Amino acid sequence: MPLLGLGVYDMHQAEAEKAIETALGIGYRLIDTAAMYNNEKEVGNAIRNSGVHRNEIFVTTKVNNTDHGYENALRAFDTSMKNLNIDYIDLYLVHWPIRGTREDTWKALEYLCYNQMVRAVGVANYLIPFLTELETYASLVPVLNQVEFSPFLYLKDLLNYCRQRNIQLQAYTPLTKGKKFKDPLIVELSNTYHKSPAQIILRWNIQKGVSAIPKSANPKRLQENFDIFDFEISEADMHKMDALNEYFIIVDDPITYL
Ligand SMILES: NC(=O)c1ccc[n+]([C@@H]2O[C@H](COP(=O)([O-])OP(=O)(O)OC[C@H]3O[C@@H](n4cnc5c(N)ncnc54)[C@H](OP(=O)(O)O)[C@@H]3O)[C@@H](O)[C@H]2O)c1
Repeated sequence: MPLLGLGVYDMHQAEAEKAIETALGIGYRLIDTAAMYNNEKEVGNAIRNSGVHRNEIFVTTKVNNTDHGYENALRAFDTSMKNLNIDYIDLYLVHWPIRGTREDTWKALEYLCYNQMVRAVGVANYLIPFLTELETYASLVPVLNQVEFSPFLYLKDLLNYCRQRNIQLQAYTPLTKGKKFKDPLIVELSNTYHKSPAQIILRWNIQKGVSAIPKSANPKRLQENFDIFDFEISEADMHKMDALNEYFIIVDDPITYL
């Protein structure tokens, strides 16, 4: 799986297909969608029309919160397969740790994996308490955990916990939806490295070994977000960025699902 990918939340119909085709043209090879985003069909269309071989693209989708439970999750997977229509799904995630049903849902994902119906399974929004709980019933370790993560929401303990268990951490809303682009340190580093605030923030993620899936539907910004492999943030500046953490949550705090 490439570390950098495209998130497609809030992209619909023609816009989604166009953005994904542009992204694949730029070189993106990881697409993150979800049943909840209501655009799996467009993701599939864009991949099929792109001319890029299916086996060069890594596709993630997720179980919707309304489809939890063993049988429901298996049915939801079938629906995602039909909507995407791309032969196979690389990674299937539990989208949110829904109380009361997350064990049954995980068992369904294990079934899909053991029966080679999906290449890999993982979770999203699993903070440490959800992962320790999962260890009590799981026979498979999730390969990946997708959480909100940025220098302003630096979940260091979770990152270490995942590293120790070989769980790849993946950052969603990595750009803070642009809300922190004017932070003085980000602006200073942007001037130092001659890179945009978005590039500085994404590079911080990548240097930590954390995957990131920024969303953009704009060709210029898609290219900008992809151009982060030709510079390196110094160790001292990485430390300064670590200190930006203020537990700045934009989407939703998963702990409320405990
Ligand atoms: N698992 C989960 O529960 C969960 C939750 C939330 C998100 N996600 C995933 O994470 C992906 C990314 O998160 P997100 O969409 O919430 O937020 P994000 O990637 O942090 O920010 C996206 C916003 O920033 C703008 N943007 C992108 N690149 C930019 C740049 N270089 N300069 C200035 N503005 C830029 C985009 O606008 P333009 O399109 O106009 O460029 C868009 O409004 C989602 O698409 C989804 O795949 C997962």
